[in-house]
Amino acid sequence: MGALVVSTGSTTPAGQPADDAASSAPRPAAVVVLAAGQGTRMRSARPKVLHAVGGRSLLGHAMVAGRALDPQTLAVVVRHGRDLVAAEVERVDAAALVVDQDEVPGTGRAAQCAVEALDARGPLDGPVVVTASDVPLLDGETLAQLVAAHVTDGNAVTILTTVVEDATGYGRIVREEGSGDVLAIVEHKDATDAQREIREINTSIFVFDADVLRRGLASLGTDNAQGEMYLTDVVAFARAEGRTVRAVITDDPVAVEGTNDRLALSVLGKEMNRRILERWMLDGVTVVDPETTWVDVDVELAPDVTLLPGTQLHGATAVAEGATVGPDTTLTDVEVGPGATVVRTHGSLAVIGAGASVGPFAYLRPGTVLGERGKIGTFVETKNAEIGAGAKVPHLSYIGDATIGEGSNVGAATVTLNYDGVAKHRTVVGAHAKVGGDNMLVAPVTVGDGAYTAAGSVITRDVPAGALGVSRAQQRNVEGWVERKRPGTPAAEAAARARADGGPDPADPASAPAADAAPEGTSH
Ligand code: UD1
Ligand code: CA
Repeated sequence: MGALVVSTGSTTPAGQPADDAASSAPRPAAVVVLAAGQGTRMRSARPKVLHAVGGRSLLGHAMVAGRALDPQTLAVVVRHGRDLVAAEVERVDAAALVVDQDEVPGTGRAAQCAVEALDARGPLDGPVVVTASDVPLLDGETLAQLVAAHVTDGNAVTILTTVVEDATGYGRIVREEGSGDVLAIVEHKDATDAQREIREINTSIFVFDADVLRRGLASLGTDNAQGEMYLTDVVAFARAEGRTVRAVITDDPVAVEGTNDRLALSVLGKEMNRRILERWMLDGVTVVDPETTWVDVDVELAPDVTLLPGTQLHGATAVAEGATVGPDTTLTDVEVGPGATVVRTHGSLAVIGAGASVGPFAYLRPGTVLGERGKIGTFVETKNAEIGAGAKVPHLSYIGDATIGEGSNVGAATVTLNYDGVAKHRTVVGAHAKVGGDNMLVAPVTVGDGAYTAAGSVITRDVPAGALGVSRAQQRNVEGWVERKRPGTPAAEAAARARADGGPDPADPASAPAADAAPEGTSH
């Protein structure tokens, strides 16, 4: 949260803790998010406000900040990429009102369309917050402080401003000498050389009195450098009526920075991540390398979680107390249980039980549920698989559409063959079973409780509880084959040496009953 420096003329005592101001903020009549602009500098087929940082769209950030004020109505003005943006509004907050802007351009027209739509639901009265849709670091508390200052001072308009090094392109805040109150916002393109010297800028985040906003917008024209209706002109309108307009300066310019291009998207995304990690570290999470660790806004971390370098936690991922994630792990919508370890893993929509161990080099696909103290080991891929408490799939396996009972062990290089080319089928392994190494479990198939299967088996029929399932050719050894068929090779020489030490004689027909037959796997 950015600390607001309450500017000249405010009755809010300087030095008052920000939280007090926030908690005393009255409920606004509406929050209006302006999201109809095109955002051409993104150079994207996607509307600008649908680009994301911290795992949430720019629009989503604006809406969450606005909703935090608990307004009577949260409205979003849309036009460019209308259907995509409206769908995102609905997805983020189904209670929000979508307002269409018509072909008249400008922030003033956008606000006017919103006021008309809101008035249609009952005359708008009281403070109306207007925000831009591309300011991802803006939070609800900063907005609440702005509303509190607006109400306390009895302003007609309260503007959130900041002071920047290079104010090119921004609307400049023109203050009255003496009082320090705001006289006007002058857009860069309309500003005089003297006004362009001003480095205090409009962030496009305001609180308006509803009545002043309604009548001010009705007075607007498009007689300016851009031929647009400027919302910012409502300031001069309010002043002409003798009303008070004040600006509240934030000392956290990044928190009010808009996202105009992909450079800004990356800078603000990194800053958001830095702030998220800072908060988690203060809450008791160890982040070994914040530079290479990325955590989305909605991720939940418990105390004594350790995040090792190269970890990315996305979506609704939640990591419980004492778990260690990383290095080099990406989890999306994954639940990690207390004390679990997840090493060099890529996972989504999976649940990892308490004390379980995953990786290194595991791929958890949706529907993976690993029980307490279970193991999904090295080079293992799982999908739609329930692996019970204490069950282990340690090496080189694919377990998909399967249930592995508690305490069972799946040998290395085992594959569940879940797809017959038309439909998917399930493999069920009971409790405390042992599936041998290199098994092919051809679903639908069941290996019962306490059953074993022999290494190298292709299991196509159910194995009853407690039985041993074997399905492979009997082994036979063709004695002396190498010395007869591969004479002079290092293998033959090694065999000869072994025979001299007491091995069978290749010339002895009794020890080589089928001398000319090549066993499987040695024919070339
Ligand atoms: C606006 C402000 C400027 C401020 C700057 C901060 C005006 C006239 N100027 O300038 O004082 O310093 O923001 O970034 O308000 N939008 C609509 N409909 C439109 C046009 C814009 O909804 O017809 C929305 C955009 O989606 C965006 C916001 O309004 O969220 C600001 O639009 P933008 O084009 O960035 O305004 P600027 O001209 O940069
Ligand atoms: Ca802008």
